Amino acid sequence: MRPLFALAAFVAGALSVSVEDCPGYTASNIVDADSTLTADLTLSSDACNIYGTDLPGLKLLVEYQTDTRLHVKIYDAGLDVYQVQEHILPRPSNQNVSSSVAALQFSLIEEPFSFSITRSGSGEVLFNTNSSQLVFESQFVHLRTQLPKDPNIYGLGEHSDSFRLPTEKYQRTFWNSESPFIPRHSNLYGTHPIYLDHRGASGSHGVFLLNANGMDINIDQTDSGDQFLEYNIIGGVLDFYFLAGPSPSDVSRQYAEVVGLPAMMSYWTFGFHQCKYGYWDVNYAAEVVANYSTANIPLETLWGDIDYMNLRQVFTTDPERFPLHKMRELVDTLHSRGQRYVMMLDPGIHRADNYSTFTRGEEKGVFLKADDGSDYRGVQWAGEVVWPDWIAPNTQDWWTNEISLFFDPETGIDIDGAWNDMNEASNFCPNITCDPALVARLGNNPPQPTNPPRNNTGRPIPGFPDDFQPEPSTQPGNLRSRQTTGGQMKGLPDRDLFNPKYRINNHKGELSDSTLYANITNADGTYQYDTHNLYGLTMITTTRNSLLSRRPNKRPFVLTRSSFAGAGSRAAHWFGDNNSTWSDYRVSIAQLLGFAGVHQVPMAGSDVCGFNGVADERMCARWTLLGAFMPFFRNHADISAPPQEFYLWDLVARAARKAIDARYRLLDYAYTGMYRASTTGEPLAYPVFFLYPEDEETFGIDTQFFYGDAILVSPVTEDYAESVTYYLPDDIFYDFWTLETVRGKGETVTRDNVGWTDIPVHIRGGTVVPLRTESANTTTALREKNFQIVVAPGLDGKAKGSLYLDDGDSLDVGDAKSDISFTWDGTTLKADGTFGYSTDVVVESVMVLGDEEPVTRNGSWPLDGPFEVTFQS
Ligand code: NOJ
Repeated sequence: MRPLFALAAFVAGALSVSVEDCPGYTASNIVDADSTLTADLTLSSDACNIYGTDLPGLKLLVEYQTDTRLHVKIYDAGLDVYQVQEHILPRPSNQNVSSSVAALQFSLIEEPFSFSITRSGSGEVLFNTNSSQLVFESQFVHLRTQLPKDPNIYGLGEHSDSFRLPTEKYQRTFWNSESPFIPRHSNLYGTHPIYLDHRGASGSHGVFLLNANGMDINIDQTDSGDQFLEYNIIGGVLDFYFLAGPSPSDVSRQYAEVVGLPAMMSYWTFGFHQCKYGYWDVNYAAEVVANYSTANIPLETLWGDIDYMNLRQVFTTDPERFPLHKMRELVDTLHSRGQRYVMMLDPGIHRADNYSTFTRGEEKGVFLKADDGSDYRGVQWAGEVVWPDWIAPNTQDWWTNEISLFFDPETGIDIDGAWNDMNEASNFCPNITCDPALVARLGNNPPQPTNPPRNNTGRPIPGFPDDFQPEPSTQPGNLRSRQTTGGQMKGLPDRDLFNPKYRINNHKGELSDSTLYANITNADGTYQYDTHNLYGLTMITTTRNSLLSRRPNKRPFVLTRSSFAGAGSRAAHWFGDNNSTWSDYRVSIAQLLGFAGVHQVPMAGSDVCGFNGVADERMCARWTLLGAFMPFFRNHADISAPPQEFYLWDLVARAARKAIDARYRLLDYAYTGMYRASTTGEPLAYPVFFLYPEDEETFGIDTQFFYGDAILVSPVTEDYAESVTYYLPDDIFYDFWTLETVRGKGETVTRDNVGWTDIPVHIRGGTVVPLRTESANTTTALREKNFQIVVAPGLDGKAKGSLYLDDGDSLDVGDAKSDISFTWDGTTLKADGTFGYSTDVVVESVMVLGDEEPVTRNGSWPLDGPFEVTFQS
């Protein structure tokens, strides 16, 4: 019963006790008041003090919050132990329902204390802690639940493992960290302690542990074959939300009620984005835009990585390579072409007296302090940096001011969104001593490449002012080097914040390695030891608020690398620094399913064609086709990687044209899914089993997915293969490209000769899919196109779907929105719902798919009220 992996990871001073020797707790003073239950938990006998000091007195609180949500909290009677601040993650409202109407039931055993959660009606046990003692110590909390044999467990991101988690000797560690090459079986950038347990016909449920401390979650079997999942946490309280489902999508919706509905994304964010670390001057950046239009590949958004900064200082531009007036021209030109610009904002603030972002922050006292009261210093791109304390009283004002000054539409750079990177937080000091040579290498503007790989050299850039010549500037950057001292190490008497006895399996090493010291006190007196995993979440919250004050009522767009539960209500997420490999191409699907399916971060996607290493043409073509069916679609590569813009290879360019054409025609369908996600928590991309929850063959699928609830994407998965074997549930489908009817038989299907610009995509029967009649160069132009409504009858001959319309960008659109539902009864398509958004765009055709050729009715149905289109039988 000991935490298996913990002991393996624990090196120094072999333990003489294990959790089996711990006394557990005894419940008393149980007050059962129907919708709540409270009890005291007292340490049953002598403390075991296995990885800290046992807390003698705990409290138990059980709340039947809604008919499908049960809240169970075990916390210290003294209320000293860290709990995630409510202003960082607001708690859901408690409707206090009677336990008699609740879908989940709580019961406890008094001695030794354990509890179980069962499903009302069937009595099925969903969670049961009686196979191990509860251990609640100052720096170690342990709880184990039994699982059924061969469980289907999903979630617990961020990881790069299979979507359905392994069930033996598997460990998920939560300690947000910069994770180049997205290693497998490791902690990565984000923490989402929610799992979905799918039990086929008897339903799905979710278990969310609201705890931000470092932890290892182990999934394994005992020697006698009992399956379990256990939490080994280095602090915090046990704050569980049990979500009853019973369908997988119900769990998603119930989880969104707890951590917040996803933020509604602007229409344009579904456009295609291009980025690269290494667009070393504004001309190169402009050239990329021009090359896309020359190649006839729609580009919605250009991204600015840290290249634009002077000396890697956030909120500055390199005067030689990215002079402000040229940046303004670049962005104005992009805007005049209906395109967008997003720029990076890192948290590490260069510590330099002549850098006003730093000095203004210093005046306002916004930086994290070392325990001697001086600024906590470390190293990031700029060299020696300090880090904002995002929850300090003046930080929001300071950050908003910096954003308003730098991104002032009149005098600064008029960005469309912000990209928050390095916010785990990443510190280039690997440990307490920082190599001065490392610091010296940082904080310089990069040297100019001598032989730039351009493909338009000498030509003016179409659509750009004449002085945007594609030649790079030849001025060297301001070279300089810096020293740093790092922070200072002082532990607290009652907790070892640097080397807690229980050592989580952080792939970076100790808790403070390559990040902020765990002993740093935040403005509210909490420690980084407890709040480390919230650093990214608090940064994106601040950035979002700042963007909102800059442009009230425009939906702020923030892309974040680091995340915590609830991040989707504030930002989009990409999967970090993956590799240009087939393996990472495949894994991007499992990652999408985790974020969009379980973690409620629907606007998610990978660096298409891979970030690290060399992308090759055929792999990049496949990845382009796949990425186009993911909510967030961005090509991005490292500075050390060769350029990989789609236009650089013929095959990739062709794949991109085709994929973007389909993506844009489907954009309103996806946007409708986004609206649904942001108002109900319904997933925007679904694992296949979400739509076929009783089909066991679907439970392990993570190389196919549904984009929205109608479009099944089944990409080629093997390296360099020209065939693919995919699964089609027992249902009716229609080939998205040929419109042919395909009867799924609950079997795998092998498709040969899948060309390098092809990707198998099917429309699920029973759905109505709104498409634009044609694609466009930008999403702004796309919004002028008429609609074609495609009816894909199900096995029963019926179908339904919806279309949501608004201005695409306002946070509060008031009544100026249309939410149109389509129903097909076999002969008539009925459009009904609300029609508050006024548009000249009409439905130009209705196409009904079927056994024979699709049948189309042409016409001009305005989108200002209900209409019907009848087909003769
Ligand atoms: C790390 C990010 O993950 C990557 O996307 C970015 O290009 C580099 N930082 C440079 O800013």
